[in-house]
Amino acid sequence: WKTLDDMELQGRTVLVRVDLNVPLQDGRVTDDTRIRRIIPTIRAILDRGGRPVLLSHFGRPKGTYRPDMSLNQITGPLGTALGAPVVFCADSRGPAAEAAVAALQDGEVLLLENTRFHPGEERNDPELAAAFARLGDIYCNDAFSCAHRAHASTEAIARLLPSCAGKLMEAELRALDAALGAPERPLAAVVGGAKVSTKLALLENLLDKVDHLIIGGAMANTFLAAQGHDLGRSLVEHDMTGTAKTILDKAAARNCTVLLPVDIVTAPALEEGAPATTRNLGDCPAEAMVLDAGPESRAKICALLENIRTLIWNGPLGAFEIAPFDAATNAAARRAAELTRAGRLISVAGGGDTVAALNRAGAAQDFTYVSSAGGAFLEWMEGKILPGVAALH
Ligand code: 3PG
Repeated sequence: WKTLDDMELQGRTVLVRVDLNVPLQDGRVTDDTRIRRIIPTIRAILDRGGRPVLLSHFGRPKGTYRPDMSLNQITGPLGTALGAPVVFCADSRGPAAEAAVAALQDGEVLLLENTRFHPGEERNDPELAAAFARLGDIYCNDAFSCAHRAHASTEAIARLLPSCAGKLMEAELRALDAALGAPERPLAAVVGGAKVSTKLALLENLLDKVDHLIIGGAMANTFLAAQGHDLGRSLVEHDMTGTAKTILDKAAARNCTVLLPVDIVTAPALEEGAPATTRNLGDCPAEAMVLDAGPESRAKICALLENIRTLIWNGPLGAFEIAPFDAATNAAARRAAELTRAGRLISVAGGGDTVAALNRAGAAQDFTYVSSAGGAFLEWMEGKILPGVAALH
């Protein structure tokens, strides 16, 4: 794929697919990370005499207009982050959009309305893609977090115009390649979260690639249950224990070590102020729930981190939203951050919950790379080809 540096931008209109799907509460953006991270691309286009026209989806309006999902709500925050005027157009195609592009002045940015207000967007409709393409000379995809969707503004359009990756897309792809494509070894993955069933493809793909797998969160319970441990009222996917066992067998056959909790932190329920008890694996009372890995497990994870060169992280290691069940996540995240700061570790993380957990631990800013993507990061970790990236080739 080409980058912005490969393109002549002077006097050209550049259609930039961004991901402005940001969290909004009472009309206010509660996390502007995705806005901040597209600024370098927009700036680069402006600085090189190009005219940026932004395409994005927002929410899941299912092909119809919804005022609560209008991208006009993002015009203000985007202009503030950019420090340049942002003009909004109430459609993303057709005469209104074409007139808005024609009226755009040097130094201005045009933000088009939510692409998903048109039903053709999610159908990857070639006609809608052609209508988008009429608005610009160059297509630049800066939305890695939408690259798992084959939509008109992420896939079909890339085939109609000279296309390139924006700076955020470029950074994501380079960081992910350094973590899983051609990593420095030893390579370990932290895989956490609630369910094995949602991470099955990811685990299967990682078994072939990583030297160590650190499994945590409620999904570790299913593995422990597969090994015959009684975990009281813990979240366990009983129908997945056979699969969990198969994964452990495959890992052993491929020389991939699997680190599971060796001790546990339990409570009667997952709630603020619930009394937490540290126990040996075999001592979980019938009425208790496992909510985090214990101190011995934390020490083992941290010791492993000392001896690896690359870490890829998806999913928290415990019920991190409620203290003290964030201890394993915090300990591992902070140690990974320290090792990264010391130049001893390349650390890459992604996925909505993961980023929230690393932020809570105060560790995210020291990681080598934190992806802006949720679902796309997961699918990439599963080894899937992302249509939005493939279309740039
Ligand atoms: C995201 O928030 O992960 C992306 O914007 C994709 O959104 P979607 O899951 O609605 O396609």
